[in-house]
Amino acid sequence: MLEAVLLVGGQGTRLRPLTVTTPKPMLPVAGVPCTEHQIARARAAGVTRVVLGTSYKPEVFVEHFGDGSRYGVELVYVTEEVPLGTGGAIRHVAPHLQSGPDDPVLVFNGDVLSGHDIAGQVERWRTSGSDVSLYLTKVEDPRAYGLVPTDAEARVQAFLEKPATLADCVTDQINAGCYVFRRSVIDAIPSGRPVSVERETFPALLAAGATVTGFVDDGYWLDLGTPLAFVQGSRDLVLGLAPSPVLAGRTGDALVIPGAEVAWDATLSGGTFVGAGATVGSRAVVTGSTLFEGAVVAAGAVVRDSAVGHGAIIGSGAVLEGVVVGDRAVVGPGNELVRGARVWPGVALGDTAVRFSSDR
Ligand code: GDD
Ligand code: MG
Repeated sequence: MLEAVLLVGGQGTRLRPLTVTTPKPMLPVAGVPCTEHQIARARAAGVTRVVLGTSYKPEVFVEHFGDGSRYGVELVYVTEEVPLGTGGAIRHVAPHLQSGPDDPVLVFNGDVLSGHDIAGQVERWRTSGSDVSLYLTKVEDPRAYGLVPTDAEARVQAFLEKPATLADCVTDQINAGCYVFRRSVIDAIPSGRPVSVERETFPALLAAGATVTGFVDDGYWLDLGTPLAFVQGSRDLVLGLAPSPVLAGRTGDALVIPGAEVAWDATLSGGTFVGAGATVGSRAVVTGSTLFEGAVVAAGAVVRDSAVGHGAIIGSGAVLEGVVVGDRAVVGPGNELVRGARVWPGVALGDTAVRFSSDR
């Protein structure tokens, strides 16, 4: 038996307005929650039991996954009354783990899409005799992440979470958010108070001389921390750049869920996802974007690298580029919204949808 813990309790503040109603790991990426992609990949790597460490909106996970049997794993939910931080959440699920003291336990950040070799990571943890082994990836600008310099033997030398200045960026290797812990190391994390695994647990293990290793895997990696990263993740899944067993055999230029209505002369490309019941009107152009369930893109509208929320309406001739439109919001005909704009759920901009509905 191989167990995995998924940390899914964060509020996802930077992803608002998408996370106003849905916790970040449950936002559909290419139509399927990030958590589901992760469970499918973990299962393919031999994981049979998954413990979800929840805090924000735990009921959304339970409603979707139930006991896990549909996903081929045993699922256990453990909810923090108040958020305990990443390390506190790992410690909080400890009483619910079944692994023995020297067994490996996988821990995943719940907002990461990755193509890394999970089974290989467990194997390297074993062969290196590690207490904890970290999956690392290389990024151009590491400042938003945990920096993890390693020596020639893959031993971690320091853990520098979100360094303040570029001068502190001693490496481009970052913590990619998947760990293998020796079970007994989890039990030794202090309980009953907030703990950051990045700022407290890892530095303390290093100071105590524990064997902490880090291995760079150059497979696909993306932190879904911002709305535009979320749009990118969806696009990469549809294009097949981000591997997920959930989408096997369905990747391509666009993925249209049955029940969506796309005009014959509309153009969908660049990894566009069209959710169930969504509508794309005549001559509309949708590139690299995600249309949630029931979203409407009216005739002649252009939507690039954007997310359009549940039931939101983009009026005819409107142009969106790098924009997030909240659930049931309305962008009136002819509006132009550019990179970084976010329209809050229910907000109506400009003219309403009356004109487009006859255009459709
Ligand atoms: N249960 C629980 N309780 N989960 C939590 C809590 C909590 O109090 N706080 C955060 N989480 C979950 C989040 O839901 C997310 O899935 C994961 O822990 C990581 O938290 P983020 O808030 O997304 O952290 P980050 O992206 O700023 O940084 C982390 O991830 C980077 C890689 O994506 C760190 O681990 C960095 O070191 C790392 O580089
Ligand atoms: Mg994150």
